[in-house]
Amino acid sequence: MRTRLLPRVAFYDQHPEPADFFGEVIDGLRHRPRRIAPKFFYDEEGSRLFDAICETPEYYPTRIEKRLLAEHAQDIARLMGRGCLLVEPGSGSSEKVRLLLNALQPSGYLPLDISKDYLIAAATNLSTEYPWLEVHAACVDFTNPLDLPYCPHGTHRVAFFPGSSIGNFDPDDAVEFMRNIARMVGRDGGLLIGVDLKKPTDILERAYNDAQGITAAFNLNLLTRINRELGATFDVRHFAHRAFYDAEHGRIEMHLVSTVPQRVAIGRERFVFEKGESIHTENSYKYAVEEFHALAAKAGFAPMQVWTDAASLFSVHYLQVNTLRQ
Ligand code: TRP
Repeated sequence: MRTRLLPRVAFYDQHPEPADFFGEVIDGLRHRPRRIAPKFFYDEEGSRLFDAICETPEYYPTRIEKRLLAEHAQDIARLMGRGCLLVEPGSGSSEKVRLLLNALQPSGYLPLDISKDYLIAAATNLSTEYPWLEVHAACVDFTNPLDLPYCPHGTHRVAFFPGSSIGNFDPDDAVEFMRNIARMVGRDGGLLIGVDLKKPTDILERAYNDAQGITAAFNLNLLTRINRELGATFDVRHFAHRAFYDAEHGRIEMHLVSTVPQRVAIGRERFVFEKGESIHTENSYKYAVEEFHALAAKAGFAPMQVWTDAASLFSVHYLQVNTLRQ
């Protein structure tokens, strides 16, 4: 289905299947180790807290990635090719793409996101700010293989996936996701992607344990949301945020730890927590440049260019579909 919102914004609704919040929470809490998927962080309060995390002094990735994109916009545009069709899975507020648009002059921008109202508002704002830009917004679940709703013949396609969100997939799923991207952009297609780098543990751990406690509030908000939406009885005061670097897996792990022995009800279900027992809520994998190149190669991408900051904290990669492997 296609609707016109403004002269230059088209909207498509692929009606993504809504997640089964109750079923997934119950299954995750029965699983050992207990776990809840990070996609459930993002209710209104969660999205607000996430934006606040990105502003904390300890959370360096957002700041550095934005600086890299702004500083190298001309180089990036040269590699991506002006007039490309730019696709952004999980576009959210479409904030970072603004750093590229003037240099890149894409022939079209396709923000893809699961949250419909937010997507429409973001696409409309962007289009008002960049009246020359052709915007085709699509409400989709980008973890499934994607069919582009708008793809004029002959324009070459580039995907944009900032924020080191690739690090929130397990490596096998990251390869699978990038394979879907490769298929979506096709031959000669590209991928501009932000990847957080391996670095000393103290810097990593500080980024996920900010002094103001915003990351803690973000993690704990998941329990508040479960209480509100599923009628659960989590006592949020008796759970603690824990984030640490696991060097063996090369990832930050985020957990909610029960600080006392306690029982929790969700509908008719009952869960018993020992003191110290945890719910695993997210991973954030960190990759050295060569490690990420190896991962991208498995998905059929060849590295074209990588930009990093002087302290080697964060990287932005431009990859191209490797036609030899397709
Ligand atoms: N993908 C980014 C990262 O892993 C952003 C992010 C996702 C994040 N979930 C988070 C940051 C939870 C802090 C806490 O860093």
